[in-house]
Amino acid sequence: MKILGIESSCDETAVAVLEVKNGKPKVLSNIISSQVKLHAKFGGVVPNLAAREHVKNIERVFRAALKKAEIKNFDKEIDLIAVTRGPGLAPALLVGITFAKTLAWKYDKPLIGVNHLEGHVYSNWLNDNFKPKTVKFPILHLIVSGGHTELVIMKGHGKYELLGETLDDAVGEAFDKAARLLGLGYPGGPAVAARAAKLKMKNEKLKIEFPRPMNNSKDLNFSYSGLKTAVLYKIRDLQNSGIKMDNDVINEVCYEFQKAAVEVLIKKTLKAAKEYKVDSIMLSGGVSANTLLRTEFKKMAEENGLRYSRPSLEYTGDNAAMIAMAGYYNKLKAKSSKRKTTWGSVEMDANLGFN
Ligand code: KG4
Ligand code: ZN
Repeated sequence: MKILGIESSCDETAVAVLEVKNGKPKVLSNIISSQVKLHAKFGGVVPNLAAREHVKNIERVFRAALKKAEIKNFDKEIDLIAVTRGPGLAPALLVGITFAKTLAWKYDKPLIGVNHLEGHVYSNWLNDNFKPKTVKFPILHLIVSGGHTELVIMKGHGKYELLGETLDDAVGEAFDKAARLLGLGYPGGPAVAARAAKLKMKNEKLKIEFPRPMNNSKDLNFSYSGLKTAVLYKIRDLQNSGIKMDNDVINEVCYEFQKAAVEVLIKKTLKAAKEYKVDSIMLSGGVSANTLLRTEFKKMAEENGLRYSRPSLEYTGDNAAMIAMAGYYNKLKAKSSKRKTTWGSVEMDANLGFN
């Protein structure tokens, strides 16, 4: 079975072709056209501008994905189309959805609308060493991106329960905002991580301590807006006490910020794993590219005897291969749940969640 995946929920126009044989996936192509440079000027993604770029790029990205996958006859070779239907920026989502609907209508193909967050979950299924047949439910997922920070239990394919989420900013958003305050540009996550990595422990002079928001709360929720504000105040305090924001100081602020942000994620994931007695945990979303988070996630899993998975780096950010993978499992379920998979059955939902 060959699946065409389409993703346009934010600032990446992405199209992929995924082949699934006996449940084993193989990514035949995974083309991503990023608009990061365009939005960098504004310090964040501008929805209408994103939509305009998707319209401009989607056909080229689609053709490139078919070419790379060596699809010569779309009608004969593609069995299913999967498209992100939410959550995301409404004008951006509509471009991918309309493109997908048009293809499904023209070629009379089944169409599946995929939850973007479920796409991130399934990015783990794309790992080379991943064995779908050995998967044991329930699995606890920590999904961390620019728009979401969620702990979700997956009880089976398509069966989710939201355990906790951010009450304000997402962790990726906090990285982006901290980077902006420090003049590091957009997107901030990779920039902050790179600066943090430059800090040699012996350079840690200022003894900066950032708060660990909701680290000890009884629930499984998160809050990242306070951490961002703490960075703002710290920069102000440092400047007021005559300390220049030179590279060493910026590196140290980044290091401490990242440490605080990651610590809460790890602690809450372990708390959820214990409370819900799961023995498998998975990480996903754009922030799962963060080296400290990946290392700490692995360490925590190993120390507590948990099976774990992290997506390979190429599938951490937004991509369409993960959407195709989620589409495959959605389609399997659609048969038994009598869910419609016609071109007219897919609707955009910018606020789509797990419940
Ligand atoms: O999943 P994603 O590509 O898009 C959304 O669905 O939001 O996630 C993007 C987020 C951005 O906030 C970006 O700064 C963050 O992921 N990010 C990182 C790293 N790489 C990307 N955050 C921390 N460390 C990184 N290495
Ligand atoms: Zn995403």
